[in-house]
This record gives sequence, structure tokens and C-alpha cells, in this order.
Amino acid sequence: MKAKKRIAAGIVLCIGMQLLSACEKKQPDAASKLHVGVTYYDKSDTFLNELILCFGEKLEEMDHKKIEVSMTVRDAAYSQRTQDDQVKELMDAGCNILCVNLVDRADPSEIIDLGRENHVPIIFFNREPVAEDMLQWDGLYYVGALSEQSGVLQGQLAADAIQKNSHIDRNQDGKIQYVVLEGEPGHQDTIIRTENAVNTLKSKGIELEKLTYGIANWNRAQAQNRMTQMIRQYQNKIELVLANNDDMALGAIDAYKKSNVTESALPVFLGVDGTDIGLKAVADGKMYATVYNDKEGQAAAMAKLAFALIMKKGMKEIEFKNEKYIYLPYEKVTADNVDEFLKAGIKLQ
Ligand code: BGC
Ligand code: CA
Repeated sequence: MKAKKRIAAGIVLCIGMQLLSACEKKQPDAASKLHVGVTYYDKSDTFLNELILCFGEKLEEMDHKKIEVSMTVRDAAYSQRTQDDQVKELMDAGCNILCVNLVDRADPSEIIDLGRENHVPIIFFNREPVAEDMLQWDGLYYVGALSEQSGVLQGQLAADAIQKNSHIDRNQDGKIQYVVLEGEPGHQDTIIRTENAVNTLKSKGIELEKLTYGIANWNRAQAQNRMTQMIRQYQNKIELVLANNDDMALGAIDAYKKSNVTESALPVFLGVDGTDIGLKAVADGKMYATVYNDKEGQAAAMAKLAFALIMKKGMKEIEFKNEKYIYLPYEKVTADNVDEFLKAGIKLQ
């Protein structure tokens, strides 16, 4: 928890570790220090705050590698220009690995050039650069998850709910009237999650009627606003809310709480992520289900990769896709298994 506060405050996290032991073979060009610079698109993002906290903990856990580790976190506050400057500043300050959660996933060129010039490998995470950019230099990596899978799993969860509970089709017209709350336009997870969730529902024989959609940029308050407008427009007609992440599903639930819609006329809510509050909403029965975005797995992969790059060993043990990509699988979370995920979270703190 101490680390949480430090990282949340964007302060340097120093983990004191001893130098390489004499019996361990040190390769000539392997560094004895790992200085990780992290920059992410905005500090308001719930999932990323949890992921970065977890990353700090994974780095700390790797102290058996016996090298000095430090981590510095920067918030780019939605500005790519700011993020480019932060990368430069972090490299100037001696960071020898950069972990970058791009503000604009289509604009990584400046950061790639800085990495190449300074010989500092870049691990992009969560916001995936386009494939051509990843080919610009061989010191580039990506750690994340497959958007398509999250959509498919969300669609399966929604289909299960509808098939098991005939009352979800409240007006009994044989169709499910649904709305979508979308993340940022242009984010790989927004388009692909929505598309795959809807197609999976259709492939399971569920008849759908899309009422509308709202862009809420991954944000709970924006989702609440969008949902409030939708409730005004469609009254009790909405039967299903597909949200691209938990924060937006929670925003939709907030909107219903403030409306005068009765409990029995509530739609079914589904999210993605399994953030702490998302899991709690599933456990409390407020959100039907979510899809776990494996932050522990992603954080561990980033830590392992950072060490391997610096120590110049262990790269062969890492399972890459196309030599640069590490994707962690998503998992379904419902009331039936949410406790396992909640327990895993407790273990972390
Ligand atoms: C997560 C969102 C998050 C976004 C940030 C997505 O993978 O599901 O919760 O806001 O990444 O880039
Ligand atoms: Ca219906």
C-alpha cells in the first residue's frame, strides 16, 4: 500500500537491492541498475492506475535478481507533446527502460526516435501502436491483451444471461433492446470489443435491437451523463447495457440510481476489466458480469521483459508473438467466480 501512494503521486520509487553477487556471471554489457521510466496517457484512468501499481510491486518482487531498481511515473495528462517531453526527460535522468502508455497510439514516432538515439528499449503497454510503427526499430515491444477476445467473452456472458433469464427481454418481443457505452474513439479496445460482443451475441441466436450508443472515453462521469440522456430518451426500453470497460458500466449504474426507474425495470450491465470497484459491483449483484483484463499478468510480463533487456538474459524464455508482442488472456467473471478474483487482489496488497 505504501507503494500505491508513492506511485499514485508520481514519485520516484526506489527499491534498494544489492549488486550482482560474485558467483553470478555478469555479461560485459549488462547493466547493474534498472531505471524504469513510465508515462501514461492520464492519471484519471482506473485500470491503468491499478496496472501501474501492480507493475511497481512486480519490480519489487524481482529483487532476487540483485540489481538496483527504481521506477519513475509520469502523467501525460492527455497530451502527446507532454508525453514526448517526458520520455526525453526520463532518458536524460538515466532511465534505461521506458514503459509507454501512448496518449495517441497513432503518433509514437518521436518516442521511437528517442529510444533509438539513446539505445533505450521501449515497452509500449495497453494502447497498442499500429503494426508499421512497431517495425520502425528492433528495441520496441508491446504488452497488452487481445481486444477481440474481450469482446467475444463479453458477448458470451451477455448471451448466457439472456438465455438463462427470460425476464431480461422485459417487453417480451423476442429481441434485446441494447445500448453501448464506448471508450475513446480510435482506441483498439473500443471498436473491437463492441464489434465482437455484438457478433458473438448474434452468433448465439440472440435477436438484437440497437437503440443507440454513447462515447464516454472510458470515464465513469461521462458514462453517467450519456446514460442519463439515454434513459430520458428511451425510458424503460433499455434491456442491456454493454460497456467497453467497468468504469463506464458503473457510470451507467450511477445514472440509473439517480433516475426514477424502478429496480425491476433495470437493464443488465456488463463491463470489462475487473478493476477493484468493478469486481465489487459484480459481487454486490449491481453489474451482471465483467471480463478480467489481467493486470497482474501484464505487469509481470513488463517486469520480466525489462529485466531481461537490461540483464541481457532470459529473452528466450519469454513467449513473444511476432518477436515483439506479449498478449495476456482475458477471463470471464460472474457472481459464481468473482471471489477468486477478489482474493487475488487482496493477496497483492
Ligand atoms: C481498459 C480501460 C482503460 C483503457 C485505457 C483498456 O484496455 O479496459 O479501462 O481505460 O484501456 O487505455
Ligand atoms: Ca425486448
